[in-house]
Amino acid sequence: MALMRRGHASSTEFSGLPLTGERRPRFRGLSTLCAPSVFASAVILMSYVARSDRPADKAARYAEVEAEILAVLDGEPDRVARMATVSSMLADAFEDYFWTGFYVVDSTKQRELVVGPYQGTLGCLRIPFGKGVCGAAAETGRTQVVEDVHAFPGHIACDGRSESEIVVPVFDRQGELVAVFDVDATRKAAFDAVDAAALEGLMKKVFAA
Ligand code: SME
Repeated sequence: MALMRRGHASSTEFSGLPLTGERRPRFRGLSTLCAPSVFASAVILMSYVARSDRPADKAARYAEVEAEILAVLDGEPDRVARMATVSSMLADAFEDYFWTGFYVVDSTKQRELVVGPYQGTLGCLRIPFGKGVCGAAAETGRTQVVEDVHAFPGHIACDGRSESEIVVPVFDRQGELVAVFDVDATRKAAFDAVDAAALEGLMKKVFAA
């Protein structure tokens, strides 16, 4: 088996079959690519093509991506796999998602987060509860929407290009805090109540259902 990424070519080939077009069923294509019997026998040539047919309306876009995420995760209990999938699919769907990922509650430490699955540039490894935006979300159990990270006391600048951010606490079925979900953008005020409501709903469905 070999997996090769080929820059910005305009089509995806799978075992010699091209999948092309703006409405190419990338989501269904992924399911096909993940079939173990196919993996076992095929050489896969995969090219990334960003979709241009997402709804412009943010709430509608969240609804569409949420349905796709839930379909992909159906039957998958592993929390790391669920976090990785959420990070990847959201980062792919929204232009503003510059850094996208989870800081997980470290059960071996007192009130400390450790970096989990993410998409983006190098993230800080550990964040104490109460420190920065992630720490504030972990401490309070409440979503933090920050229009200007430079004005947030104690903000941790993992990447100097971050200008605004949203951090949503993630609870399990028992209501225990297990992580926070952090998204950074390179422009100010990229996130608002629409993002907060959509992400809180998604986190509930993925990690507390
Ligand atoms: N900005 C965050 C730290 C995490 S990084 O941005 C990936 C904060 O202040 O909590």
